[in-house]
Amino acid sequence: MASARDPSALPLAGRTLLVTGASSGTGLAGVLAWHKLGADIVVGSRSAASCAGVADRMGNVKVHPLVADLGDPSSVDAALDHLRASGVAPTDIVHFAAGGLEPILRPLLRITAGLRRMAPSEARDRALAEGRAELERLVASTAAAGMAVNYDGPRRLLERLGPALPRGGQIILFASVWSEMAGAGCPAFYHSVADSKTRLERWLDTQMLAWASRDVTATVVVAHVISDTSTGKLIDRNIAPLMSAQDQSEFRAAYVTTEQTIAATSGLLLRPASPAGMLRRVYQVGSDELTDAIAPEVRAVASRVPL
Ligand SMILES: NC(=O)c1ccc[n+]([C@@H]2O[C@H](COP(=O)([O-])OP(=O)(O)OC[C@H]3O[C@@H](n4cnc5c(N)ncnc54)[C@H](OP(=O)(O)O)[C@@H]3O)[C@@H](O)[C@H]2O)c1
Repeated sequence: MASARDPSALPLAGRTLLVTGASSGTGLAGVLAWHKLGADIVVGSRSAASCAGVADRMGNVKVHPLVADLGDPSSVDAALDHLRASGVAPTDIVHFAAGGLEPILRPLLRITAGLRRMAPSEARDRALAEGRAELERLVASTAAAGMAVNYDGPRRLLERLGPALPRGGQIILFASVWSEMAGAGCPAFYHSVADSKTRLERWLDTQMLAWASRDVTATVVVAHVISDTSTGKLIDRNIAPLMSAQDQSEFRAAYVTTEQTIAATSGLLLRPASPAGMLRRVYQVGSDELTDAIAPEVRAVASRVPL
């Protein structure tokens, strides 16, 4: 019988988790936690050096690189060919990687810095409207890059790996509460990320029927701001202060932490609860608990984030 020290007795022993965006933030926290729980980890990053750095932290045992730029399908293909040639077959996919905000960040910070220096006034309202219009133009002109990294690349990855996932394999994605407001309420700076992520979710929802006979399941975790990530800190320090005091306090009360996000995701990996044949949506707001719905008032405050 397996003893407590026996690695094969660990809860994720025998699973091989392919994790995109595993070099930093939530993805890094996740792979370190799941490796300790016995999983083999495929570390997804654009950088071979980052993959090697993560592997070092795992003692270079039960860890494999997936060096791919999700914005470039040929890079995804080459990395998956290399993985297959190494004999590594993922049992589950956890897709953290996200891109598309990079060209927006500098103008966003410039605009928010100016606005935070202004007292409420008509001039500030005008500056806010001009800032929003500038961001809308910028987001529209760079949307193709967001679509490539958040839709085309991940779709390519899932199209190739999904059919080979074993019975009971899981796919877990991450979305923001703003992803669900792509039509209305999504801040201007987040539009292309929201659109591209939503498109991937729609595609996967349809695709899951084809994989249902093998009990492969998919879940999207719709998280509020993850306050200790670099994106979370940027939102908290630069954008939240532009809201009214009351809204700021309600908005911040709904934040989650990386630790809570990983605890929730570990729960999903250990106790799958999604039905086969469709993408299940769960929400994470203010705690490590996952819920099937989000309170309307939480959504309403998030939709009042300016810019
Ligand atoms: N942070 C939040 O407040 C928040 C809230 C709700 C939902 N989410 C979602 O949760 C997930 C994780 O968030 P996060 O803030 O920890 O992530 P992040 O820092 O925004 O990005 C995670 C990773 O994405 C990878 N990445 C970026 N562009 C890529 C590309 N072209 N190809 C391959 N990988 C690429 C980067 O890896 P390399 O640089 O190593 O390639 C990076 O480590 C994301 O899907 C995000 O949308 C985040």
